[in-house]
Amino acid sequence: MRIVYLNGDYVPKSAAKVSVFDRGLLFSDAVYEVISVINGHLIDMERHVTRLERSLGELSINAFADWPAIARTLVAENGLQEGLVYLQVSRGVMDDRDYRWPVPDTPSTIFAFAQQRVLVENPMAATGMRVLTRPDLRWQRCDIKTTQLLYASLMKMEAVAAGVDDVWMTRDDLVTEGTSQNAHIISRDGVLISHQLDRAILPGVTRIETLDQAKALGLSVEERAFSIDEAKDAAEAFISSSTLLVMPVVEIDGHKIGDGKPGEYTRKIRQSYLAAVQRASSTTA
Ligand code: PDD
Repeated sequence: MRIVYLNGDYVPKSAAKVSVFDRGLLFSDAVYEVISVINGHLIDMERHVTRLERSLGELSINAFADWPAIARTLVAENGLQEGLVYLQVSRGVMDDRDYRWPVPDTPSTIFAFAQQRVLVENPMAATGMRVLTRPDLRWQRCDIKTTQLLYASLMKMEAVAAGVDDVWMTRDDLVTEGTSQNAHIISRDGVLISHQLDRAILPGVTRIETLDQAKALGLSVEERAFSIDEAKDAAEAFISSSTLLVMPVVEIDGHKIGDGKPGEYTRKIRQSYLAAVQRASSTTA
């Protein structure tokens, strides 16, 4: 039986009920985290908590809980070996639909669940992903991990309809990020280029480790936006996220990147990322 968390209780999935007056449902007035689980261990928990607390702070949502304990309990209760924990916090329940926030002491709605998913042996790592580019029509605070995911979801469906894997979104012809991943390229002269941390992108947790691994492999790293043309001309392209980890991108708008196969550096970054994660999971609870 799947056990989920809701407002302090661990209950069977069918018993977890949220009000229709929850601001998360009516206004997407909610933030979330997706934390990967490998070998039964939560990866980069501390960084996810830091980002969650920042997202909550940016929206002035007052919510406190022992986030790592919730995630760990869900992993244990559901016997999860590999996959993710999803954790969402909304501003809480209103009496009536109202654009104004409810009174300050309204309790937030906190729920979380665990989900199985193949991460390490994802077959896409051998073939790579193909992406389209589309305008980034999201709001201008993409640094906050809100549940306003409709545009990202529409873009994902455009990719699916076109028979490819994802969309890289662009502002003024500069790539911001994927629908739910950070985007990176490696130029022909061996520079890893990754969008700077600002309001246009989510500060990815996986991105941090990815850039560190790239530096350890001898690549220099430039944190700046890159154009679609620069991406098409790159030696390698890839994404990072908690669910895809490090994943090669082999085609952009039908144009092959490099020789159209996953790049050598990308393969090494994925390997060293996985090795770091395995090391961390064997030393942490
Ligand atoms: N998405 N950019 C966006 C827009 C994202 O939604 C995500 C994560 C990332 C990568 O961040 P991280 O490395 O911390 O997972 C970048 C999660 C996986 C999701 O929505 O399912």
